[in-house]
Amino acid sequence: MDLRKFIDIARDAGELYDIRKAVDPVRELGAVLNACERAGKGALFHSVKGYDIPVTGALLSSQKRIALALGCEVSEVGARMAAATQKPIKPQAHQGAAPCQEVKVKSPDLGAWPIPTHSPLDPAPFITAGVVIARDPQSGRHNLSYNRMQIYGRDRAGISMNLWRHIKAFFDKIEPQGKNLPFCVAIGPDPVVMMAGAFRYDGDEYEVAGSLRGVTETLPLAIYSQFDQDFDVALAIGALFVLVGVAILLVLKLLPVWTRSSSTSPFRPAASTSS
Ligand SMILES: Cc1cc2nc3c(=O)[nH]c(=O)nc-3n(C[C@H](O)[C@H](O)[C@H](O)COP(=O)(O)O)c2cc1C
Repeated sequence: MDLRKFIDIARDAGELYDIRKAVDPVRELGAVLNACERAGKGALFHSVKGYDIPVTGALLSSQKRIALALGCEVSEVGARMAAATQKPIKPQAHQGAAPCQEVKVKSPDLGAWPIPTHSPLDPAPFITAGVVIARDPQSGRHNLSYNRMQIYGRDRAGISMNLWRHIKAFFDKIEPQGKNLPFCVAIGPDPVVMMAGAFRYDGDEYEVAGSLRGVTETLPLAIYSQFDQDFDVALAIGALFVLVGVAILLVLKLLPVWTRSSSTSPFRPAASTSS
């Protein structure tokens, strides 16, 4: 399932507000989203002032919407979550071109994206719901996590890696070798990738996502993009936007950005920056 399909499912179930009135990404969008969440629904902002890319939020902040994303009853959500770590499923390897690589932006400009400044005291826009996909430099296992990113400029962001997080442990392994930690940030991936990002699990968290997706649906979740001669990054293939970067201490330095094409989605990259 990709995010577009899930948005349709949530709307059909009466679980989503379609906000068509233009909202300002600086503090207004965050306030309206908060109100939607308090009212028990997710939101899709069709018109964000200054941008032609919609924004969505609060999609998985209720058990009902999580059940919709998993295709199960609310009463089954707990068991599905438990099974995800007890019986992880390795996702298939993806062959050929991936949806997330339909458009490649060689010179990223985060200012072209409607990244909200959420709260009154936030000093800048923050990416709060991107799933950071990193690999253990020794074992190669994938870790999926949420790490807020404060936008510093066109291709720079600060990244919050709490000391006890797995991604921080990966960074501590690679940094003494004089290397940076490569990773990708999946924005708008399959909802199971979003769910797996919230797990604290010592194994491969792509396999958690694979288990949540289930054995009956064998859609591959990842492809690999060579980062350098001895390291590749895993891209969530269904994601609407994929940033690739490296962690240099607490700063994310962006490399190319991939997005899905505009043909079937209101989520589209600015035409002028694509190639
Ligand atoms: C919306 C959201 C935002 C989060 N932001 C951060 C963050 O900025 N920094 C951080 O270290 N953890 C953050 N977390 C927590 C972890 O990313 C997440 O719970 C994950 O399971 C990390 O576990 P790990 O140690 O296995 O990587 C956030 C979690 C959520 C759901």
